[in-house]
Amino acid sequence: MVQLSGITPSGHVQLGNHLGALRRWAADGGPDDLYFVSDLHAMTTAHNPAKLRSLATEQLAVLVATGIAPERVFVQSDLARELGALTWVLECTCSYGEAARMIQFKEKSAARSASVEGGGGGMDGKSKGQAGVRLSLLTYPVLMAADILLQGADEVPVGEDQRQHVELARTLARRFNSTYGEVFTVPEATLPPAGARVKDLAEPARKMSKSANDSAGVVFVLDEPDQIRRKVRRARTDGGSVPAYDPENRPGIANLLDILAACAGGDPAELADEYPSYGVLKDAVADAVIEELRPVREGTRALLDDVAELERVRKAGAERAIDRGAHRVSAALRMVGAA
Ligand code: TRP
Repeated sequence: MVQLSGITPSGHVQLGNHLGALRRWAADGGPDDLYFVSDLHAMTTAHNPAKLRSLATEQLAVLVATGIAPERVFVQSDLARELGALTWVLECTCSYGEAARMIQFKEKSAARSASVEGGGGGMDGKSKGQAGVRLSLLTYPVLMAADILLQGADEVPVGEDQRQHVELARTLARRFNSTYGEVFTVPEATLPPAGARVKDLAEPARKMSKSANDSAGVVFVLDEPDQIRRKVRRARTDGGSVPAYDPENRPGIANLLDILAACAGGDPAELADEYPSYGVLKDAVADAVIEELRPVREGTRALLDDVAELERVRKAGAERAIDRGAHRVSAALRMVGAA
């Protein structure tokens, strides 16, 4: 059984990524699982090359520091040749309509055309409207299918927003296999259990996100303890003064209780009764988050300081992933009549 998932370096890794994905990847880990930094996916909208490189390196270190075995991690762009070839074959297996109806594409392309981009003269700055979005925003789910199918993944743990993309990968695997011959494992999306969906501390109606414009309500895994405490103390608490678990009407407090339960154990509704005031609850949440993230922060810093070790992990991971997947690219090319 191969489980595979990726994290996109569109920002610094935050608490929601840690609790909802990375921590689980580290705990679940079967010997054949693979987790990777999907840096090629962070280029579908305007991006900064130097920042992308440093975020990808940082995320690789975070994966390892979280406890995912170094043999099970890699950086996507180290497989650019294999993935590029396979993406093309899969684009020739996918219709325009299938790509264009992806919800994330519709949302992001609409948001992009609504926003007025100021000058700059860059490729994205010049273009106007939906026609100006990068073509890769449309084709990105096909690259994601290539990520999955290259490695013969059986299970793909993803959040709700990525489920449709895994469905597309399933469709393309089936279609390829029945049209040209059996090459690909048909993958399945697995959803993480509810409860681990961390909300933004300042804006509890929305998910905590590494690419949020305003990071006041986002706890990053590399934040220092005093930064974490400050952000938690400022968290929105939706009126009232005594903690109660009511996600519908009091999402801010419910979010803090969910975070506390995820970090320190216990049931969020029962935890509410243990804290007489918001202040005491917030201190407990800050303590729990600081302790939860401490080993990740310290381990990541140590790895980022040990450039040679991180480079070794990266190279070994890439070789292993290529070894495991390259034969599927060759087989797929052969079967479509291209090699
Ligand atoms: N697109 C995913 C995200 O934004 C990350 C990702 C890229 C991924 N390739 C993948 C996840 C393959 C699962 C499998 O969260």
